[in-house]
Amino acid sequence: MAMTQDELKQEVARAALAYVVEGEIVGVGTGSTANFFIDALATMKDRIRGTVASSEATAARLRAHGIAVFDLNDIESMPVYVDGADEITAQGAMIKGGGAALTREKIVASVAKKFVCIADGSKLVGQLGRFPLPIEVIPMGHAVVARKLAALGGTPRLRMKDGAPLLTDNGCMIIDLLDLQIEDPAMLEQQINDIVGVVTNGLFARKGADVCLLGTAEGVRTLRFG
Ligand code: A5P
Repeated sequence: MAMTQDELKQEVARAALAYVVEGEIVGVGTGSTANFFIDALATMKDRIRGTVASSEATAARLRAHGIAVFDLNDIESMPVYVDGADEITAQGAMIKGGGAALTREKIVASVAKKFVCIADGSKLVGQLGRFPLPIEVIPMGHAVVARKLAALGGTPRLRMKDGAPLLTDNGCMIIDLLDLQIEDPAMLEQQINDIVGVVTNGLFARKGADVCLLGTAEGVRTLRFG
């Protein structure tokens, strides 16, 4: 019988344990695939020093398992960061932020030596952009940022929750940029970051994944980049 998407996510989450370095800090991402990784990590929690979380939701789930969560400001380096993606290319460039945690994800990933992406096979794409690109913005500037994003060719949409703009863990808003066909992810990542009022954007291309564990019907495929 074919595996469900959740079973594929669970399989890659378990496979990522092979990249955890014993006695060290593990950077932990956000989302449904990262949640499976947290549950898997609990099975070896006594063999790691602890974790750094990329969102409040991830921190809460880690703590519920009795796994230590450190403040990133107290950690200088970590061997790996494990997280999902909304889209990933065969070159390791990703769109992230479907769960609105992109900024903290990018900060924690920037401290890690290796980014291990865990994803079910549906996330592998030939070109990024079908998934709306999330961009975190300072609330007082969201309209001007949206106009500048529209000038880059996409259709901006302010992300809403319960009838009001969604607020991130950082108290900022998210603009999703639709209708993009991203030819050069690293260049677009830089262009969007150059707009005043943008905190960060969900393109992880200048520093993408180092490894991707992809869940497929034939088992876990390992893609290595760089
Ligand atoms: C969270 O902000 C995102 O970057 C997630 O990593 C991404 O949305 C993948 O989520 P799923 O594992 O739930 O598909």
